[in-house]
Amino acid sequence: MLNTIDSILNRTKGNSVLLPVDLMCEYAKDPIGIDVLKPRFSWKLIQDGREKCQTAYRIIVASKEFPLKEGIADLWDSGKIVSDLTIGLEYEGKKLSSGQKCYWKVVVWDKEGFASCSIETGSFEMGLIEQTDWNAEWISAEFDYPYKTFYTGPALYFRREFMLNKEIISARTYVSGLGYYEMSINGKKVGDHLLDPGFTDYDIRVLYSTYDVFEYINQGSNVIGVTVGNGFYCTPRWNGKPCLRMQIVIHFGDGTCETIKSDYDSGWLVAESPIYKNGIYDGERYDASLEMPGWDKASFCMENDNFKDRWHKVVNAVAPKGRMVSQMIEPIRNTEEIKPIGMKEPGNVFVFDPNPIYGQTEKPAGINRIVFDLGQNIAGWVRLKVEGPKGTKIVLKFSETLYFDDNLNVENLYLADAVDCYFLKGEGLEVYEPKFTYHGFRYVEVEGYIGEPSLDMITGIVVHSDIKRISEFNCSHSLLNQLYKNIIWTERDNLHSIPTDCCQRNERFGWLNDTTARCEETVYNFNAERLLSKWMDDIEDTQLESGAIADCAPYVWYGKRIGEPVDTTFVITQWLLYKHYGDKRILAEHYGSIKKWVDFLDSKAAGNILYHGWIGDWAPPRAFSYTDSLCSAISNTTTFEYISTCYYYYAASLMSQIAHVLDNKNDEMKYKELSEKIKKAFNEKFLDKKTMQYEMGSQAANAFALYLHLVPEEFKQGVINNLVDDLVHKNNCHLTTGNLCTKYLIEVLTEIGRHDVAWSLATQTTYPSWGYMIEKGATTIWERWEYEASRAMNSHNHPMYGSIGAWFMKSLVGIDIGDGVGFDQFIIHPQPVKGLEYVSGSLETVRGRIEVSVCYGESSFELSVAVPVNCIAKIRIPDQGWNMGDVRVYESNLMIWENGVFFEGVSDLSGGIKKKDYYEVKVGSGRYNFKMII
Ligand code: BGC
Repeated sequence: MLNTIDSILNRTKGNSVLLPVDLMCEYAKDPIGIDVLKPRFSWKLIQDGREKCQTAYRIIVASKEFPLKEGIADLWDSGKIVSDLTIGLEYEGKKLSSGQKCYWKVVVWDKEGFASCSIETGSFEMGLIEQTDWNAEWISAEFDYPYKTFYTGPALYFRREFMLNKEIISARTYVSGLGYYEMSINGKKVGDHLLDPGFTDYDIRVLYSTYDVFEYINQGSNVIGVTVGNGFYCTPRWNGKPCLRMQIVIHFGDGTCETIKSDYDSGWLVAESPIYKNGIYDGERYDASLEMPGWDKASFCMENDNFKDRWHKVVNAVAPKGRMVSQMIEPIRNTEEIKPIGMKEPGNVFVFDPNPIYGQTEKPAGINRIVFDLGQNIAGWVRLKVEGPKGTKIVLKFSETLYFDDNLNVENLYLADAVDCYFLKGEGLEVYEPKFTYHGFRYVEVEGYIGEPSLDMITGIVVHSDIKRISEFNCSHSLLNQLYKNIIWTERDNLHSIPTDCCQRNERFGWLNDTTARCEETVYNFNAERLLSKWMDDIEDTQLESGAIADCAPYVWYGKRIGEPVDTTFVITQWLLYKHYGDKRILAEHYGSIKKWVDFLDSKAAGNILYHGWIGDWAPPRAFSYTDSLCSAISNTTTFEYISTCYYYYAASLMSQIAHVLDNKNDEMKYKELSEKIKKAFNEKFLDKKTMQYEMGSQAANAFALYLHLVPEEFKQGVINNLVDDLVHKNNCHLTTGNLCTKYLIEVLTEIGRHDVAWSLATQTTYPSWGYMIEKGATTIWERWEYEASRAMNSHNHPMYGSIGAWFMKSLVGIDIGDGVGFDQFIIHPQPVKGLEYVSGSLETVRGRIEVSVCYGESSFELSVAVPVNCIAKIRIPDQGWNMGDVRVYESNLMIWENGVFFEGVSDLSGGIKKKDYYEVKVGSGRYNFKMII
């Protein structure tokens, strides 16, 4: 007999209750369409007071919500498990079937042994687990379009009518359309996804989405309408034609079930839509006079003379080769709408336009043109509101920068012809938004409007993977606040179902080397668990038998198929997903592949030095790059073999740690030994023991060696001195590093006790620096340290140099995960520095919200910290050079330290120790207010 929940609840009067909240399954709230056989459960805990934790849990899963309330778990009852774990607990009950809906609750026990049950009931629903669950076919149109070129043809309308005569009790749609689709039922858009499905290698995996469409379907006649655009699928890489696969599973009150699916012979029709051209890079062309009002509603008359010739029977499409996989990542959505901050008429000076539309080389005379400024560089598009006679052509162009005469500068967009074009139907106010493209821009030129322009004419629509922001940061230094803002914007603009390199030119690829630098910033600022897990699959999909992975995932056409050692983000990101989100499964799932990658690197090495490489520490300041190299972006101060060997070591040592986590002792030893051998060879080859410089003595080389703890103890101080000397004296507090080593440089400076130098780099305003970008008006992070806007590689929205965002959280706010996993334990260690008066920040971790606020005074220091339930924090109160003998430390007005003596046990604190640079105490959950006074 199962216990009912009530019988195990045993609350004490007067005490606050330990309560499980935020129930998540597969890191999502009440997901539908899961296709993992053992979904994982997680929850957070709340309880007032201090030092609260969970000592045991019990998960119960049922097939119906009602009995679950009674505590009857017909699918699984874990029983009481003595454990403090709250993250990633695997379902171990009865086998789950496709489409099955399940409900769950969790009971937790606190330190005193009292139990309490989650008030909320979590739910999850399985998707289509087996490929054979898909009985729908891929359908397309017969027309032959020039999809082999990059300039792609029209988006297609797919339509099907169907009747339902019985009472409907549930309806689910499983749908994918390549390149992108948007679905409606009875004229209403299903869900809020944009640019769906997420980007994958369509030869290997095709993502589908699951929607609850109960509210959309009527008893009676219904119409499904799906618009399918080109996306990456209809490019030379996959050579596809727009195609659709979907099935709606409808359950009726009488216990029967019906599936409406895409196929050749059940009445599906296809037509060209008013979107007569669309491409990710090249925008959309929309002719509103081609609209067929109500085409996706039952009232639409197919026999209407204007429309009947446009509809044709569908054909079976050449199916994409990839298997159908549920899209478990957050969808791309409209996440914000921005009003322009100004508009200007651009000069009539003809400016060279390298991407002319329709072969046009000159600006048409006498046509109205106006340039809007959104005040922010974004990824997305604009919503246009215009009026005018039928056939009026409005052209929208996008750019990140302007020429001196306020004309758009589109040179740095390369081959992306970022133009949307709308032909009016002439029926009053018309509103247009594209569907199957996106642009990276701050400025929008509207050409061809009639009458007076106004700021209401356009709205900027911010479009990206809607993953949750988890950090906050604010400090007394306005430049750093702006820099943090720019980092967040750049990250948002570059999350499009993969972490992209840029969002404006003809790339937008998942370059692995950029993510090697950026991934820690990403996981600190956003809940990237699902998105980056999916991207790990994308990387694995590029892997060759030899173990090599590609430079970009999905692999499209840039970068090499046999990737560079700098692509070690494959290992680093997984480690971060484990550390930050407690995701151990990611390590187990990809273990074989990361091992193959490390072994591949090993196979390329000679005497434990890895010579292979072609990207290296990419795009340092111009003076530190070879001018005649690829995009003038190859470092002339740090060699490929140096950077490659560092990553070879990094990968091997992480591999050993991952093997340890997975309890694989042989591999743990094997990779530990490998990393030790690499370290030895590395120091023999690259360390000049006389000068105490690595390789050519660049900032990158010395910083990376220190970051990886490769420097033998006896040379450490010498290398540090050289690094600081190069920065402070030779370069007057300016960096010389590229996309990778900039991260290591800034972090290592703080680690070796030169936070002051890290601070001067972070707050520097002259070239090359982040401050220089801001002084030049940047609202996002640039790809190059230089201000450039020419027809060369210089995106103004490129996340790699945003890697400094991790340092903001770790060293300014001071939240460092240390040895923790999923923040079960962490360190609070804000670093004082001259020029910083206060800093505050927070991090919404998988265990709850950490909050920190610090005030640095002349003779006092205040620190407030909130530690989530079930966590342990070591709090390090920085010694600001004050004499210990004179210092008193208080917590909530109780003295905990005086004259160097720690009062153990006062104010729930323990383990007080004084280290060289700080006083450390250990605390459990709760809020703490420290004050230090001389
Ligand atoms: C990308 C970079 C990338 C580089 C590597 C560029 O085109 O935008 O971010 O690191 O190629 O070669």
